[in-house]
Amino acid sequence: MPSQIVSLVVNGEPREFIAAPGMTLLAGLRESLGLTAAKRGCGQGTCGSCTVLVEGQARAACLVAVETVAGLSVSTLEGVATGGELDAVQSSFVDNFATQCGFCTAGMIMVTEALLDRDPDPSEEDVAEAISGNVCRCTGYQPIVIAILDAARRRREERASR
Ligand code: FES
Ligand code: FES
Repeated sequence: MPSQIVSLVVNGEPREFIAAPGMTLLAGLRESLGLTAAKRGCGQGTCGSCTVLVEGQARAACLVAVETVAGLSVSTLEGVATGGELDAVQSSFVDNFATQCGFCTAGMIMVTEALLDRDPDPSEEDVAEAISGNVCRCTGYQPIVIAILDAARRRREERASR
């Protein structure tokens, strides 16, 4: 199969690049578009460090063949902040010390964005379930769970004040 031009909407912007046969979405984002927030950990769909959103759904980008998402909308950590301002999830991760080495953080934040988009008031069990596919070797998870619950509260307050 020859290389092909793939068009996606990434963080709201139309993007196009040449994809070699078998290229993953993760490789396309990192190597062709220079969006390196999503990380390659296991490369097998089991660590969550490469998580991005495709049409709002959390997906392991290392398992997605890039041609299968042609024309779709992809969101990465690079598109989360607005005008240099961290969003509620990002600032909550910082304030609650939910990141140490940072390797898992982009994936954790994207999984959280998807969770809070579908459930603005998740329980601790909902949070644990949402991040169950994301491995963190540093934090012991509890600061991440606390940060996600705090982010949910911040988002609800932001919305209520509009
Ligand atoms: S690198 Fe994709 S799930 Fe681990
Ligand atoms: S902060 Fe190091 S792997 Fe999660």
